[in-house]
Amino acid sequence: MTLLAVENLSKSFGGIHANQDIGFEVAEGEILGIIGPNGAGKSTLFDLVTGFTRADSGKILFDGRDIFGLGPDRIAALGIGRTFQKLKPFADMTLLENVMIGCFVKQAHIKQARDRALEIIDFVDLIEKRHHFARELSTGQRKRLELARAMSIEPRLLMMDEVTGGVDQKTIPGLVELIKKLKASGVTIVTIEHNINIIMEISDHILALDQGQRIAFGKPADIQNDQRVIDAYLGTVDVA
Ligand SMILES: Nc1ncnc2c1ncn2[C@@H]1O[C@H](COP(=O)(O)OP(=O)(O)O)[C@@H](O)[C@H]1O
Ligand SMILES: [Mg+2]
Repeated sequence: MTLLAVENLSKSFGGIHANQDIGFEVAEGEILGIIGPNGAGKSTLFDLVTGFTRADSGKILFDGRDIFGLGPDRIAALGIGRTFQKLKPFADMTLLENVMIGCFVKQAHIKQARDRALEIIDFVDLIEKRHHFARELSTGQRKRLELARAMSIEPRLLMMDEVTGGVDQKTIPGLVELIKKLKASGVTIVTIEHNINIIMEISDHILALDQGQRIAFGKPADIQNDQRVIDAYLGTVDVA
C-alpha cells in the first residue's frame, strides 16, 4: 500500500528552483533514502511534505488523503513526524520533558505522557540520561533525542534529515541500528543521508535529487549504476 504519494511538487525561492516537479511514492513499511549534493533540495522537500513550507504547486497525498497546504501541526497530528537537520531541542529542559511535550499530541494526561515518553527514551537507548538537560547531551545523543521527539507523536511516517550527519565515526553504527529498529517496529521511513554506504544498506528505494530536480528513483542496485547519479553525486564521494 502506498502511504505517501508526491506528484509534480514545485517550490521556488525567488529565482531558485529548490524543487521542480518532484514525484515519488513511499510504500507502507519501507525505507526511502534521499540523496543529492548540498543544495539539491532535500531539506526543502521535507519542509513541503511536513507543511513547514507551502509548495507553489503539486500534490501530496498521505494515506490517500490530500494534505497539500495543511500546516505542520495538522500534518503531525495526521501521523507524519520529522527530525531537523539543524537540531532544535529545548536546551534548558530535560530529555524527558523534551519528549513529553510531543507525547501530549496523543496523550491527554501527564502520567500517560510521561510513561509513553519513558518508553520512547528507552527505545532510543537514552534512559539513563532522562533527567539530563538537552544542552548536556553529546551530538550523537541529541540526534537520538531528536528521533525520540519525532516518535513522540506516534507517527506512521518518520522523515529524518541527516540523522548520521555531523557525528563522529564511532557513533554512526548505533544510529543506523536505531533506524533499522524503527523500521522493524512498523514505522515507514524517509531519510536524507549523505553516507552512500548507509543509504545503500538500509533503503528499499532511493530518490536522487540534483539542483531541485529528480534525477533518479528506484532500487539501490539500479541507482548505483545510474549514470546521472554517478555524475551528480557518486563521482564526488568515495564509494567503497
Ligand atoms: N528559505 C529559503 N529561502 C531561500 N532559499 C532557500 C530557502 N531554503 C532553501 N533555499 C535554497 O534552496 C536550495 C535547496 O536547499 P535545500 O533544500 O536546503 O538543499 P539540501 O537540503 O539538498 O542541501 C538551495 O539553493 C537553498 O539555498
Ligand atoms: Mg539539507
